[in-house]
Parts: sequence; C-alpha cells; structure tokens
Amino acid sequence: MVINEQIIKIKEEMISDINLVNDINGVNDIKVKYMGKKGLITDLMKMMGELSPEQKKDFGKSINELKEYFNSNVLIIEERLKEEGINRKLNNEKIDITLPATQIRVGGVHPIVKIVDELEELFVSMGYSVVSGPEVESDLYNFEMLNLPKEHPARDSQDSFYITNDTLLRTQTSAVQVRSMLANQEKKPFKIICPGNTYRRDSDDATHSHQFMQMEGLVVQENVSLADLKGTLEVFVKRFFGEERVIRFRPSFFPFTEPSYEVDVSCFKCGGVGCPLCKNTGWIEILGSGMVHPNVLNACGFDSNKYVGFAFGIGIERVAMLKYGINDIRDFYTNDLRFLSNYDRMEGGNK
Ligand code: DAH
Repeated sequence: MVINEQIIKIKEEMISDINLVNDINGVNDIKVKYMGKKGLITDLMKMMGELSPEQKKDFGKSINELKEYFNSNVLIIEERLKEEGINRKLNNEKIDITLPATQIRVGGVHPIVKIVDELEELFVSMGYSVVSGPEVESDLYNFEMLNLPKEHPARDSQDSFYITNDTLLRTQTSAVQVRSMLANQEKKPFKIICPGNTYRRDSDDATHSHQFMQMEGLVVQENVSLADLKGTLEVFVKRFFGEERVIRFRPSFFPFTEPSYEVDVSCFKCGGVGCPLCKNTGWIEILGSGMVHPNVLNACGFDSNKYVGFAFGIGIERVAMLKYGINDIRDFYTNDLRFLSNYDRMEGGNK
C-alpha cells in the first residue's frame, strides 16, 4: 500500500537523519523537517482525511508509532547534546582555586582626618557647632580685628603669604572668630569650633610646615568665665589623651585674648617625672587660649560690657603627633602610603 511504503521510506530517512545529528541546531532542523507545519509526518496526517475508516485505523496506528519513534529518539539525543554542552562549558570554565587571590587595595582615612573627626565629635558632644571659613582671608579679619593692627610686633611671629596688600593665606583659624561674630546679627550666645588649613612662611622641618592645620574654638555668652574655659579644656584633654592626664595654665600673650594662657598637658610618656619628649619638664604644650579681648568683642559687634567669651586654638598636627608618637610633621604631607596605612590600622581604622 502506497501510504505504508511512504511511512517506511520516511522512517528510513528519519533513522539516518537521527544518526547524523550532532548539535542542538541539527535537532531543531529535524524537528521542523518531520513535525513542523509542513513536516513529513504532519503531511502524512493531513492525508488521513481522504482515507476510509478501515484504512484510517491501520494508518493512524502506523503514524503514531512513527511519531513515538521520532519523539523518543530525538528526546534522547537532545538530552545527550545538552549534557555534552554543559560539560564542555564546565571544562572550559574550570576555576583553579590554588591560584593566589587578587589583592584588593582598600583606601583608608588619613591620620589628620581621623584626628579632626575625633575633635569634632568631642566638641559637638559638648554643644559646639562646626563652622568653616575661607583660607584666602583679608588682613582685616586675620589680624586687624583680632587686635593686631598693622605695625603690631606680634605679626612678625606669623610670617604670612600675602596675595595683595590686604589679602593673605590665613595664618590662623582665629580669623573665623571675627567671621562668626559678624555673622551673628541677633547677638545670640554661641559655641563654635573651626578646624582648617592655615599657612605661614616657615621653612619646613620636623616640627614646622608652611601649611598646617588649626582648630579654633570660641564661646561667647553673657556669663562665661575662665573656670568654664579650664573645665572645657580639661574634658578635651582627658577624652583625647587619656583620663589620667592633667593640665596646667601658663600665663602667655595673645593680642586677641586677655588674660592669655598656654595650656600644657602632663607628659603621657613619663607621666610627669621628666623625659626627652617633655624635655624633662613633665609637661607638654598643646594649645593657646584665653578670655576674648574686649577690643575684639567690640570690633565684632558684641558689646564687651554685656558679653564675655573664651577662645582656644589647637595645633592639629601637634596633637596628632603627640597622640600617635609621630616625630616629623612632614610625614603627614609626603603621602607615603606605608606611613599612612600604618595609622589607618590603629583603633578606629577601617581595616
Ligand atoms: N591663633 C593662635 C596662634 O596661631 C592660637 C590661639 C591662641 C588661638 C589663643 C586662640 C587663642 O583662639 O585664644 O598661635
């Protein structure tokens, strides 16, 4: 019978096709060839309509067998090819876990930034606000309004980088005292700190740098006293250098404070008995401070009959060097990563 011969022919062709197929594309091609819309088996099925019921029965059975043969064989091949593909991929992508790992270099916080963060946190916890001011400053704010007129001899100790006759790179963050008072139109009592860069025409050596940092502190209120200044600095020193530290006030001179003091902390290396670090005095100088001079208050719009204030200026590199035992200020600025990462590893570092 013609149809049966056709079925046998298709089956033979199918067997040879199946034997030859060796990739997934080939599988798809033979699926289309036999089972697609115009596929050979599909065509056979279309012929069913023209047959008698008797023939249909026989024929249907043969077609079904053919279809089953096709499906089960193609399925087996498809599975095998897929598995081979996966294995090939796995072989190519093999990970050698004995290879050394790629080193991930993590950035760190500069020791000076860490100190500034610590100081800010400490003073903010005592109710201070952190403010900033420009590094290019007017002579008026940097000197004049801080009670340092043009010919004042104290200007000599702060050899400056002038940009014009009346503009310079600020030599001290004290300039921000003037700015803070002038900006405070309502004359509200206030407490600020200002960490920032300062510049002086110094020759760089182990303890001097032409660019360095200070942190200014200023409190202006109707009633504040030297005892408050002392109490504040005591809290700062104990929290920053350690609970066992004590401070002493040494009378000094700053044009913008009266009285003025230099503040020493008991030596953290020898505990006060005397060693090379404290030059055998038992004390280490850490900052300048005093009660704001009435001339400064008045010049900045705060009536000195009504308001009083205290101020202090901390050398940031100086306290950082003392705290970390660093001997050369230039280490902060030469950016040698071996030096910097060393301090990043200390407590609070992100390693
Ligand atoms: N500005 C001073 C300096 O650079 C430090 C200083 C001393 C700041 C006394 C103050 C202060 O606020 O009250 O040497």
